[in-house]
Amino acid sequence: MNLIDKFHHWRRKLRWNKQYKSGRWESLQSEKEIGRYHQIVSYIDEFGPKNPSILDIGCGDGVLNLRMDNLDYSYFLGVDFSKVSIEKAKKKNFPKSEFIAADAIHFSPGRSFDAIVFNEAFYYIHDSEKQNVLDRMLEYLNEEGVMIISIYREGTGCWEYFKENPKLRELAFTKVTTDEELRYWKIGVYKKT
Ligand SMILES: C[S@@+](CC[C@H](N)C(=O)[O-])C[C@H]1O[C@@H](n2cnc3c(N)ncnc32)[C@H](O)[C@@H]1O
Repeated sequence: MNLIDKFHHWRRKLRWNKQYKSGRWESLQSEKEIGRYHQIVSYIDEFGPKNPSILDIGCGDGVLNLRMDNLDYSYFLGVDFSKVSIEKAKKKNFPKSEFIAADAIHFSPGRSFDAIVFNEAFYYIHDSEKQNVLDRMLEYLNEEGVMIISIYREGTGCWEYFKENPKLRELAFTKVTTDEELRYWKIGVYKKT
């Protein structure tokens, strides 16, 4: 990123903090969003190893974790660059879980994972950094592990990083719809080739 991009990136981080503080993202816990989280959890269950370790990049305040009540997992790490969202997630005291405030652009997990999730987060990563972030996270995905991506609506400029990536094989891809025509998500599951 050049200096101007870095400035905008910093501003965006402040905006996320402000929005989490004001409660704007409480809406992610609504019934309308539930199908998306359940689809991600059921993909982890179906395609991932049993009792998986899970890394959630751009985890917000931990809604995915909240929706995992039927999934046995060994460890959950949520990472988000918004300190406010991470503080909110920590207060929920999820079992076997940790939350870290860190920027995906620089973050390297200290261990590998069975499932790595970008749940409504990949498109927020600056275009010049998307490939770097994806490549770095793939280094921390176990051989039998799965990478799961959820993107609102069409995900223009994002899906090619996964669908046209020679390092990845698509295992499943679906569209999660709601009663609102324009509120839908596409979700893909990938394994390393
Ligand atoms: C729409 S929210 C989704 C939150 C959560 N994944 C969910 O679906 O409940 C997008 C999240 O991505 C985070 N985010 C955006 N850019 C990021 C970056 N470079 N590093 C880490 N987190 C980032 C934001 O702070 C925000 O919490």
